[in-house]
Amino acid sequence: MRLTGKGEIINAWFKSKTADKVLSPVREQIIGLIGSGCSLLDVGCGTGDLLFRAKDKIRFGLGVDLDPKMIDFTNERNKSITPKNLEFVHEDINSCENLSSYEIDIATSTLCLHEMKETDAIKTLQSLAKISPKVLVADYSKPKSFWAKVSIELDEMISGHYGRFKEYRNNGYLPGLASRAGLVVSEVNETPIDGILIWELRREIHA
Ligand SMILES: C[S@@+](CC[C@H](N)C(=O)[O-])C[C@H]1O[C@@H](n2cnc3c(N)ncnc32)[C@H](O)[C@@H]1O
Repeated sequence: MRLTGKGEIINAWFKSKTADKVLSPVREQIIGLIGSGCSLLDVGCGTGDLLFRAKDKIRFGLGVDLDPKMIDFTNERNKSITPKNLEFVHEDINSCENLSSYEIDIATSTLCLHEMKETDAIKTLQSLAKISPKVLVADYSKPKSFWAKVSIELDEMISGHYGRFKEYRNNGYLPGLASRAGLVVSEVNETPIDGILIWELRREIHA
């Protein structure tokens, strides 16, 4: 196993105590939208919180993240977890070649697509829809309140990928991406967090 430094592990631990707490209702909502016994792929899994919470409901969970410190953190936590039905891999989803060797029932992603280059986000959506019949994406949507708008903009400004977020926002948020990826939005779920929605996407069925 490739080991990250202590500071990096602390960073992942800090994220597990902050972002994971804030996103807790969104995670539970996603888990409510998946069927028992399914296999679940989480793209940009971060600390793996969604899969750790879902582990007793699903048959198998695969987490993929570009950030090695997140994967080291998830693998460390995974050692003490039962059932042993989770796997975490350090990969860029767009160059992950062996995804098709997994049988995935539902592919999901939370707050990941808005930080990718648009071409990569479209490619990701297309490959997710190819390997799984159902895609659930939780990401930023147009906020209703002024304060939610300010807080999302500030958060993204300090995140280091504000340019990509602006592209995502200006091009119609997730529905814009889905349409350019040739996918249809089959369901939109409100979440308790103003400015985050969960979309269910499917491939367009041509008659
Ligand atoms: C804002 S974080 C969200 C993490 C987690 N999904 C959550 O809800 O807390 C976005 C994550 O997506 C990952 N990510 C971004 N681009 C990626 C890519 N091309 N392939 C895999 N992971 C990626 C980042 O490393 C980061 O951990």
